[in-house]
Amino acid sequence: IGMEREDGAHGPRGPGLGCASFNQDSTSLAVGTKTGYRLFSVTAVDRLECIHESAESPDAYIVERLFSSSLVVVVSQAAPRRMNVYHFKKGTEICNYSYSDSILAVRLNRQRLVVCLEESIYIHSIKDMKLLKTLLNTPANPSGLCALSVNHSNSYLAYPGNASIGETIIYDANNLSTVTMVPAHDSPLAAITFNSSGSKLASASERGTVIRVFSIPEGQRLFEFRRGMKRYVNISSLSFSSDTQFLCASSNTETVHIFKLEQHGPSGEEEASTWSSYVGKMFTAASSYLPAQVSGMMSQDRAFATVRLQTTGQRNVCTLTMIQKLPRLLVASSNGQLFIYNIDPQDGGECALVQTHRLSGSNEEREGTEEAAGSGPPPSGLSYAATAAIPTCRPLAATLTGFSEDGGARKGEVIPEHELAAGPVRLDDEAEFPPFYFCLPHDLICHGFNSTT
Ligand SMILES: *[C@@H]1O[C@H](CO)[C@@H](O)[C@H](O)[C@H]1NC(C)=O
Ligand SMILES: *[C@@H]1O[C@H](CO)[C@@H](O)[C@H](O)[C@H]1NC(C)=O
Ligand SMILES: *[C@@H]1O[C@H](CO)[C@@H](O)[C@H](O)[C@H]1NC(C)=O
Ligand SMILES: *[C@@H]1O[C@H](CO)[C@@H](O)[C@H](O)[C@H]1NC(C)=O
Ligand SMILES: *[C@@H]1O[C@H](CO)[C@@H](O)[C@H](O)[C@H]1NC(C)=O
Ligand SMILES: *[C@@H]1O[C@H](CO)[C@@H](O)[C@H](O)[C@H]1NC(C)=O
Repeated sequence: IGMEREDGAHGPRGPGLGCASFNQDSTSLAVGTKTGYRLFSVTAVDRLECIHESAESPDAYIVERLFSSSLVVVVSQAAPRRMNVYHFKKGTEICNYSYSDSILAVRLNRQRLVVCLEESIYIHSIKDMKLLKTLLNTPANPSGLCALSVNHSNSYLAYPGNASIGETIIYDANNLSTVTMVPAHDSPLAAITFNSSGSKLASASERGTVIRVFSIPEGQRLFEFRRGMKRYVNISSLSFSSDTQFLCASSNTETVHIFKLEQHGPSGEEEASTWSSYVGKMFTAASSYLPAQVSGMMSQDRAFATVRLQTTGQRNVCTLTMIQKLPRLLVASSNGQLFIYNIDPQDGGECALVQTHRLSGSNEEREGTEEAAGSGPPPSGLSYAATAAIPTCRPLAATLTGFSEDGGARKGEVIPEHELAAGPVRLDDEAEFPPFYFCLPHDLICHGFNSTT
């Protein structure tokens, strides 16, 4: 549901923000700054509440929060191979993992934590962080494109199946098996996202001229949307509304498009069934076969609604959400601004800007005045150091001392489930996800996982 999520890449970069990403239900926005990261609650138009500010990870370029829980995953430019998992309310580190290469994206749902590197993907269980699966030698994915569905009962992962054409692999991250390959585009993928129940996938290619929507897990093509102009653009973010009626797409241009998923006429269904018969064959053949002319598909040449951003050339991420009972488009821009627009769900058209918030502020103001920092409020890094992960980790770590005599797991080794079931450490007593949390012994955590599971 964010720039980070579902669309890949790192979200906004630039002098303002290191990244920005909406959480899975678009109720929270996480941004990376020069000094650390910030979490905002996005529940009112007029007021943007900064619920946490941290200085633990300077130059954070990935910040992902699990729904509205205390679990936040952070990756810093200072150590791009290391993922730090924090309990931000306690100010403690839950654990950290190091990988064989720079981390390009992290995706979370209630069951899984997925770490995407350029040529491999690591699937962890969210409840105990156990590494369940390593997908090695995945096609080159330099922008770390991957999407994870957030449904309770499914957990689909989508990632590029070919670096030169827009094939998309759908992988079941719950039972750890490949579901299908969707031949989504004939040029490389630029953005992918699931709807909230994990039954639709939207994608755009590097050409940025069409956006397609497929049924999941079947891979039938349902919709094709064309952006107004013929020129190629880089689509940076795709996101469905929570009811899957609308899809927004932002790019490196000043226009954000909102498409409406309207079914009309029987021809679309005919096309869908034709299309579905291709898919099975294509997967086994591992080749792309896009019919030159697809007739009768639900194709729209114009966006239902549009937004003209005041800033251009900024990376941005968009999402559609209800705030104070009205449908809104949110756009977080790499220059450190959050724009809130109203959408007319009946007539569409040009959306009205209703509010602009600054996402960077005191952090940036303090920049270059580090000498003076001692007189200001203490950076949260201090309190972090004082309350670091050890107390949280101790109970479980103690139960696991006999686990690995050589002082750690071998590379890529999977931790047996029963070992970890011994002593759950509660993440939070609130009704948050995950309900409980394990901590892994240091040696295990610090190993790079770079061989197969
Ligand atoms: C990717 O697609 C191209 C073009 O169809 C094909 O030549 C190549 O073998 C594919 N690569 C892989 C790894 O499947
Ligand atoms: C995984 O689950 C899907 C349904 O979600 C099922 O169709 C598939 O057969 C399962 N695969 C394995 C290997 O269990
Ligand atoms: C989750 O997905 C299943 C199919 O896999 C669907 O039946 C169910 O309605 C979805 N649940 C939600 C909350 O979207
Ligand atoms: C898209 O981005 C790439 C790399 O960032 C750039 O080379 C290319 O010119 C961009 N394309 C357009 C149409 O802006
Ligand atoms: C997602 O798309 C599917 C397939 O069209 C639809 O049945 C489902 O209701 C959508 N999910 C939500 C939450 O709207
Ligand atoms: C990683 O985790 C271990 C064990 O909890 C901890 O001792 C170490 O300080 C952490 N490293 C970093 C850089 O956060």
